[in-house]
Amino acid sequence: MRKITILTGAGISAESGLGTFRDEGGIWTQHRIEDVATPEGFVRDPDLVHGFYNARRAQVKTATPNAAHRALAALEADFDGEVVVVTQNVDELHEAAGSRNVLHMHGILTGALCAACGHRWPAPTVMETGACCPVCVAPTARPDVVWFGEMPYFMDEIWAHLETTDLFVSIGTSGNVYPAAAFAQHAQRAGADTLELNLDPSVNARDFAAARHGNASVIVPQWVSEVLKAQASG
Ligand code: APR
Repeated sequence: MRKITILTGAGISAESGLGTFRDEGGIWTQHRIEDVATPEGFVRDPDLVHGFYNARRAQVKTATPNAAHRALAALEADFDGEVVVVTQNVDELHEAAGSRNVLHMHGILTGALCAACGHRWPAPTVMETGACCPVCVAPTARPDVVWFGEMPYFMDEIWAHLETTDLFVSIGTSGNVYPAAAFAQHAQRAGADTLELNLDPSVNARDFAAARHGNASVIVPQWVSEVLKAQASG
């Protein structure tokens, strides 16, 4: 096996204290998507949207990687091939754990984006309505996260990874949001093996050839240890 492509979702960061979206008490049970995670919501009430992301930005500052993030970093370091992490998460716990080959398809909380000229820069902890772009000076700074109805980042690169990977693994995602929810089928059509590692079966569990259910901090290190042991025994 020469290449493993891993999709992660909010569930991999749950045991680091960051909320998921659709579990009981999840983020979308406390906020309406159309209010805080759409371009229309931002135009309607930018203060509300900045407040939502400022609170999450403060939260991720205190979060630390868990054993699942660390296991994926060890896999990237020790696997005799390529390991790509495609994450839907806007926290940077994969990087904090040591992963380097990470694609943030939904952006990052610590990023700011100019809606006018497209310039990106490190976001202040507290972003405010009317903050100006350091390049074009327009008062159009927004969080550099992908909202519903917007195109996720790195999609050409991600499709290419899925078409050349030997194994596609999905960790901590409910399989509710496209295009990520289509990744398993896309990889399988290209000949990849597929594995779901999740607390519960996702809504697209049927797309996976194999699955293990449990807390990511337990089942991900177990799986990584098996992959590296199999590699060592040739
Ligand atoms: N270990 C493993 N899996 C877990 C754990 C855990 N400790 N806790 C929760 N999970 C699983 C849940 O069973 C669920 O399937 O993580 C998944 C979280 O699903 P969602 O809350 O829907 O989050 P996610 O799939 O990442 O959402 C995808 O939707 O709202 C958008 O942009 C947002 O990136 C997000 C996207």
